[in-house]
Amino acid sequence: MPGIVILGAQWGDEGKGKATDLLASRTDYVVKFNGGNNAGHTVVVGDEKYALHLLPSGILTPGVVPVIGNGVVIDLEVLFDELEALSARGVDVSKLRISANAHIIADYHRTLDKVSERFLGKRSIGTTGRGIGPAYADKINRVGVRVQDLFDPSILRQKVEGSLDLKNHLLTKVYNRRQITVDEIVDDLQSYVERLRPMVGDTALELDQALDRGDIVVFEAGQATMLDIDHGTYPFVTSSSATAGGAATGSGVAPARLDRIIGIVKAYTTRVGSGPFPTELFDEWGERLRATGFEFGTTTGRPRRTGWYDSVITRYAARVNGVTDFVLTKLDVLTGIERIPVCVAYDVDGVRHDEMPVSQSDVHHATPIYEEFPGWTEDISGARTFDDLPKNAQDYVLALEAMSGSRISAIGVGPDREAIVVRHDLIEG
Ligand code: GDP
Ligand code: IMO
Ligand code: MG
Repeated sequence: MPGIVILGAQWGDEGKGKATDLLASRTDYVVKFNGGNNAGHTVVVGDEKYALHLLPSGILTPGVVPVIGNGVVIDLEVLFDELEALSARGVDVSKLRISANAHIIADYHRTLDKVSERFLGKRSIGTTGRGIGPAYADKINRVGVRVQDLFDPSILRQKVEGSLDLKNHLLTKVYNRRQITVDEIVDDLQSYVERLRPMVGDTALELDQALDRGDIVVFEAGQATMLDIDHGTYPFVTSSSATAGGAATGSGVAPARLDRIIGIVKAYTTRVGSGPFPTELFDEWGERLRATGFEFGTTTGRPRRTGWYDSVITRYAARVNGVTDFVLTKLDVLTGIERIPVCVAYDVDGVRHDEMPVSQSDVHHATPIYEEFPGWTEDISGARTFDDLPKNAQDYVLALEAMSGSRISAIGVGPDREAIVVRHDLIEG
């Protein structure tokens, strides 16, 4: 069972980093296949806390080969800053492999991200401002700069010229910003070339060969199903494929080689940025989830919006990803709540929806239909087997499992690496 995908089943920050780290000691390769430094994964190892943005979480485990796949957009300054910061803390980063086909985030992408958000006004997406959308727009428009272009100075100049031409009209005439010169971009990108060269290769071929050898390859998604460009709450999404299909297109590994699809899901729901969120809480319960779960963005520090568990979303995530196993995280955050509401379906203008409505307007108008479950007061952070959990916590997990479309194979009971209850092995099944 060597090809394993770890992805978010909600709107991100479900604990994908911790889940990847959990498997890392048995993993040979960890591949980031989508997004860029908009992601923020917090991994707690003993007394040490790591916040990873561009690099896959598996880099923290000695022996694991971290890979940045073709589906990723790379900000080179962030890449080398993150590598240096990890190196300084004693993490071996020498094995990193980067796809020659990954795209580059240049300064003009960051600028455009910020000015276009401002231009959208109250319709803004609430992006992370890292240039993600504009970089993917260039990729799709076929005016992107790829990692391999950096190694051919004349091609690099041509590509940057082609990409900047129209943007300078936009920046100066629409957004009232200064012109960006080809030289400043090319000089900046070229300053990284020699450090980058040894890391770059045909990562799709390397991963295929690794799978042929029987190596275990974990594909770690950034963002999540509901932020996916195709399957999320468009337009309030990110610009990449964060669902299981993205693991194949974003790495060059064939879909049939993906054996297990592990969906990470919080025991409640959070969202950062704009867009519909049917179970969102605006009262003291929402505040309580935010405070107890420490729901503040790893990347931007923004307070996360919070709400109860939404099984319409998780059933949807189970279906579009083909989830084989869920990891339910942050169950400990619910400790002490007397009755825990769970959204079982939506009411849209008097009509019950058990499945995600296809119309985005319906999602905006959806009112959750709740069922309540009795809570528990015991501290569960020390639980390591399902039997260690109080009966009501067990029943809550079993109820979520019954309504979420796949089995719950592990349960997070605290931020630490060891704070997890494993019911079914995530690699062997
Ligand atoms: P990711 O983007 O999906 O990797 O998730 P983030 O790292 O952005 O957010 C998840 C946060 O929850 C991190 O701060 C983790 O340390 C923390 N976390 C993960 N699992 C658990 C858990 O089971 N219980 C608690 N209390 N915290 C957890
Ligand atoms: P991880 O990997 C939560 C959200 C942003 C915004 C939208 C588009 O840590 O789960 P972008 O900068 O990608 O164009 O922003 O997507 N967003 C995330 N929300 N977790 C993330 O990553 C996110 N990455 C992007 O807040 O609403
Ligand atoms: Mg995160």
